[in-house]
Amino acid sequence: MLDIVILAAGKGTRMRSAKPKVLHTLAGKAFVSHVIDRAHELEADGIKVVVGHGAELVEQNLAAPGIEFVEQREQLGTGHAVQQVLPLLQAEATVLILYGDVPLIKTASLQQLCDKVSDSAMGLLTVSLENPAGYGRIVRDEAGLVSAIVEQKDANEQQLSIREVNTGVMAVKGKHLLQWLPALSNANAQGEYYLTDIIASARQAGIMVETSQPSSESEVMGVNNRLQQAQLERIYQRECAEHLMAEGLSLLDPARFDCRGTLTAGNDCVVDVNCVFEGAVSLGSNVHIGPNCYLKDVSVGDNTLIHAYSHIEQAELDAACNVGPYARLRPGSKLAEGARIGNFVETKKALIGKGSKVNHLSYVGDAIVGEGVNVGAGTITCNYDGVNKHQTLIADDVFVGSNTALVAPVSIAKGTTIAAGSTITHDSKQEQLVVARTKQRNIDGWHRPKKK
Ligand code: UD1
Ligand code: CA
Repeated sequence: MLDIVILAAGKGTRMRSAKPKVLHTLAGKAFVSHVIDRAHELEADGIKVVVGHGAELVEQNLAAPGIEFVEQREQLGTGHAVQQVLPLLQAEATVLILYGDVPLIKTASLQQLCDKVSDSAMGLLTVSLENPAGYGRIVRDEAGLVSAIVEQKDANEQQLSIREVNTGVMAVKGKHLLQWLPALSNANAQGEYYLTDIIASARQAGIMVETSQPSSESEVMGVNNRLQQAQLERIYQRECAEHLMAEGLSLLDPARFDCRGTLTAGNDCVVDVNCVFEGAVSLGSNVHIGPNCYLKDVSVGDNTLIHAYSHIEQAELDAACNVGPYARLRPGSKLAEGARIGNFVETKKALIGKGSKVNHLSYVGDAIVGEGVNVGAGTITCNYDGVNKHQTLIADDVFVGSNTALVAPVSIAKGTTIAAGSTITHDSKQEQLVVARTKQRNIDGWHRPKKK
């Protein structure tokens, strides 16, 4: 059995924020949610989050089946924080203690740590740092066994020179915590109940303290301020970019790439600089995305081109489409094979049929557009009457002249040609020419007004 305890009661004063620290985000997701993801990957039987500052907000944001919250009203130290969950811990479970503000920890490192735990041993994640200042130091005896953790503020000269430090992450049998935690004292430099004091208890009880190390330092880096947040964000994005490149995605500059969700790509896709991917984005093969595009919850078919500065959300693009530059595809946009959406075109809840084109400066919303349709520049579906939304239907092979207003609800039959500048309020029949504009008058002998 595995119980995971996540400490998330701290205020995060140095974030200088009204929001509790653990709700600040990395790759668009709360720090603590990254940690919870790891807990799920480890298939924890229970996840207990210790909340304090902004408890209500934290609980609201994290509420989900399998997650329990325990309030630590006063932050009297890491040991005190874990004491709050004692009544919920199973004696036979392995208890893994994580931190809500250490978001890059990896599942493999945690699994390795948990594997050390038994009735006669606990696991402690340590790391050796060039500059160990601020961290608890790992004190080892002549045999090299861990005998204590000494906090920076309680350490003597010799202990301060130790470079191996406590990451804070540890795994212990529940029954051992149940024995040791109630006995903690706060007689130390900070007047806190230190979780780290259980190391000395373990030694006294003859329980081995087995250490393991993360694969990189960044895994155990905590966030205390906005600079560290930005640094961890870059580390995360770099790893994500490297992973995608290893899978065959071409990123023109991995340093100018942001994925805040999941991105999958087929063969030979190319992503230019400064693109942002959110939610679930899937690219087929041979998709090219120009610079400065934003895609959220989008699926893109093979051979589709998305040009610079396109903004695409909750949309489905079939194969061989051509979008942008400066296109905006809003939720519910679906482009069939070979559709073309040009510059300054906005679509919403719109199906654009096979090979149809909306090339310039148009709004197509609440519309179903058939195959082989040409929508001229400046065409607008007038879908909203101020109260309700209405639909526009455009059948196959329609030609919509430039600057047409289609006042919905309206249905344009197959093969209709609409003259430029028309305001369409009535349905058409197949193959009709529809002209709905005032007749041009040319007036002779007109004199322009003169300035008085
Ligand atoms: C702790 C460790 C130190 C380790 C360091 C790694 C102790 C006594 N010291 O020190 O050995 O090197 O982490 O970063 O454990 N928290 C609560 N409630 C509390 C106190 C803390 O939830 O009452 C949470 C904080 O929000 C934070 C985490 O526990 O997420 C660590 O607390 P912090 O005060 O930063 O511990 P350190 O002094 O850095
Ligand atoms: Ca800390």
